[in-house]
Amino acid sequence: MTPHKLCVAPMMERTDRHCRYLLRLIAPNAWVYTEMITATALVHGDSERFLRFDSSEHPVALQLGGSDPELLAGAARLGEAAGYDEINLNVGCPSPRVKAGRFGVALMLEPALVAACVEAMQSAVGIPVTVKCRTGVDDRDDYAFLREFVRHVVDAGCRSLFVHARKAWLSGLSPKENRTIPPLDYARVHRLKADFPELEIVLNGGLDTVPAALRELAHVDGIMLGRTAYAEPMLMGELDARIFAEGIHEPRAAVAEAYLEYVESELAAATPLRVMTRHLMGLYAHQPGARHWRRGLGQLVDGKAGLEACRRLLAAQQTGPAAGLRHSGRAAEVPARPTAAH
Ligand SMILES: Cc1cc2nc3c(=O)[nH]c(=O)nc-3n(C[C@H](O)[C@H](O)[C@H](O)COP(=O)(O)O)c2cc1C
Repeated sequence: MTPHKLCVAPMMERTDRHCRYLLRLIAPNAWVYTEMITATALVHGDSERFLRFDSSEHPVALQLGGSDPELLAGAARLGEAAGYDEINLNVGCPSPRVKAGRFGVALMLEPALVAACVEAMQSAVGIPVTVKCRTGVDDRDDYAFLREFVRHVVDAGCRSLFVHARKAWLSGLSPKENRTIPPLDYARVHRLKADFPELEIVLNGGLDTVPAALRELAHVDGIMLGRTAYAEPMLMGELDARIFAEGIHEPRAAVAEAYLEYVESELAAATPLRVMTRHLMGLYAHQPGARHWRRGLGQLVDGKAGLEACRRLLAAQQTGPAAGLRHSGRAAEVPARPTAAH
């Protein structure tokens, strides 16, 4: 299996198929994850709509939420049949909805049930079943608790683990606060890697610059970025180029042009324009003209007229007074690959 050196985290209302298409244009080697889909929704709902993805997205993983082994196995089967490369179980989300359904991070308190879920899914499919968790939950945040949890999932057949390096509070904090208030503890994830050398461990949480992200690769097998991957997608291009030793990545204008080609084809299939262009908001993050770009995207009308306006916006971004001054100080841009395949 392709190693998980660089990953885009699963994010509800962010990593839909359009966002993943865009990130694939930027970072050719990164793993991308779907938004969490509950096993119930998949098994009893419109699975074809939930599971749609573009063939360029590989390697792409389907993230599932649930705690019923049989239902999860059924959902995993659907994911495999649809062509996903991996099924990931969400054991890290603290939202009230997820808590009420007794899954997400609450499952960390029930390692035997998580193991049963992993086993059931892994027996149902030939693709890898992986787990995404936190370092702890509520007052169960000692290392022994985490190690015991991991022991269960490893014994159940999980070979790759994604750890959001902070605990979650089930009560008192909103999901957003649960992504900022509990402190990050990378050392705990490093210790886990030392204790489970055979387990592929991917660190997630708070990686927001290229140096910080690359530094972690000395301690763990891979890194997973969420908010920064979305807010500054070009940073994923730089990471991809550095990690996979290609040294160069597509400049943002080429990315935008290629994405707008995709948008055009999706418009023809009646996908609303802004469902797709909203993912471009961060493309010029930290660049001159970024605010103008975002404002322009926010004003697009639907359909072909909106697409043409978006193309004009892009052209202005390239030729306006800001052009030639583009240097973020964070994710510096480098020339296009000569054989850019668009
Ligand atoms: C808007 C948003 C939605 C998220 N949805 C999910 C989700 O569906 N499944 C999941 O496991 N984590 C979800 N997360 C958590 C991220 O996957 C990640 O663990 C977290 O944001 C920490 O990484 P970061 O600091 O790089 O953003 C979400 C995060 C955000 C910001």
